[in-house]
Amino acid sequence: MDNRIFIFDTTLRDGEQAPGFSMTVDQKIRMAKQLEHLGVDTIEAGFPIASEGDFEAVKRVAKEVKGCRIAGLARTKKEDIDRAWEALKYAKNPLIHTFLATSDIHLEHKLQLSRQQALDMAIQNVRYAKSLTEYVEFSAEDAVRTDVAYLCQVIEAVIDVGATSINVPDTVGYSIPVEFGSIIRTIVERVPNINKAILSVHCHNDLGLAVANSIAAVQNGARQVECTINGIGERAGNASLEEVVMILRTRKELLGFETGVNTTEIYRTSQLLTHLTGMAVQRNKAIVGANAFAHEAGIHQAGVIKDARTYEIMTPQSVGIRESSLVLGKHSGRHALEKRYSELGYSLTREELNRAYDAFKNLADKKKEIYDGDLIAIAEDKVTEIPETYVLENLQVNSGTQLTPTATVRLRCGEKVFEESSIGDGPVDAACKAIDSMTQVHAKLTDYSINAVTKGKDALGEVLIRIECEDSSYAGRAASTDIVEASVQAYLNAINRVVYQKKGKP
Ligand code: KIV
Ligand code: ZN
Repeated sequence: MDNRIFIFDTTLRDGEQAPGFSMTVDQKIRMAKQLEHLGVDTIEAGFPIASEGDFEAVKRVAKEVKGCRIAGLARTKKEDIDRAWEALKYAKNPLIHTFLATSDIHLEHKLQLSRQQALDMAIQNVRYAKSLTEYVEFSAEDAVRTDVAYLCQVIEAVIDVGATSINVPDTVGYSIPVEFGSIIRTIVERVPNINKAILSVHCHNDLGLAVANSIAAVQNGARQVECTINGIGERAGNASLEEVVMILRTRKELLGFETGVNTTEIYRTSQLLTHLTGMAVQRNKAIVGANAFAHEAGIHQAGVIKDARTYEIMTPQSVGIRESSLVLGKHSGRHALEKRYSELGYSLTREELNRAYDAFKNLADKKKEIYDGDLIAIAEDKVTEIPETYVLENLQVNSGTQLTPTATVRLRCGEKVFEESSIGDGPVDAACKAIDSMTQVHAKLTDYSINAVTKGKDALGEVLIRIECEDSSYAGRAASTDIVEASVQAYLNAINRVVYQKKGKP
């Protein structure tokens, strides 16, 4: 099995710690279950000592996700390791991931430790983690800028006291493929006990080389890649899971490796992350971007029609992008809808199906043809994990080149009904102001994107937004054939999150 590459997903840890990508505990559980479905080997669920929320997330993922190894991050400190173990002990297959910087620049300027002190600290804490559980990973933070002889010395020592995986991070995304490959090769050749551990890599994307560096590492002896969905992570992000996995699959004849990932779940996983965080991927993103399989030039289209292999090195189906097939219409019943959802991989509860069915009927009144993409958008809207404290009952906007944009919004909150009119820079701004005044939540819109979910002028417009309120960031999403309505619903969705999390039900 020496050609098996293990996929260590850190979307919920390194990914989630990047600005704009924070998730609630419930959202992390949803994401973790999808990652399990995707077939990753390890899910790093968080950094338990960092916050109560992280602790709770790691604990719940450990309790609820049994199909993968569950990792929690800890500095090489006893209190960090204890806290990580407290959360991880519920996992069927736990891993304590402990890290310490090894480069002189970090040792001198960040930690004020000598090389010997850092070595002793790494040994002592890996030994301690090992006394708690079988699987322990040690990461030499900033390994790329570490003196390679010292790096090898640290690696040998921590394997001696029980580390089962050794991670070599390019923490600052500084390396280039030939150099990174050669560091990995040096470790393989110089560390005498390296065969007792799995050699892992964790590359950041500051120079856009995270995926290339990860592949170079694999070619030189690494057998685990740490990566994230959509490449999210600190600064410019981490190596993108979908790219690493699809490179290994598409170029298998050349590279000779395989992963345990079910690639047909890639697109759905990427979409789920987008929905949960409100952060869209750029259209030209490899593998999962909206244009990744779209052929625009006439010459390309003609080629693809004759034989898709002319311009397609992998099929959209292989990453789970389905043909936009017409599936249901106005007269389709609840049973047909349920069946289609189950084919799409959703198992909806009775209540969720009822809500989805109402939304489907509504949409079918406005739009003749309903595609899979429409159904997915409805499901992601209606299977929402937060209560709809405020419901949009009515929206009326007035705008035009010669008019001051105004909006009148009616909201229902339980038995109470509120109505307010506002003016703004545009109709959406006016409606959001009215919502702020009724809900008494004052938020700042920080991100806004709109995309057509399916084809045609009557396509659903999907709006993803992020708002900031009292130093926290919240996502909102909604889809409608009317983009002003979708925008206002997305804003309200985010406001409902604020209300739910910060204030409890009003
Ligand atoms: O980038 C990094 O060095 C890390 C470590 C904690 C693995 O995220
Ligand atoms: Zn990192």
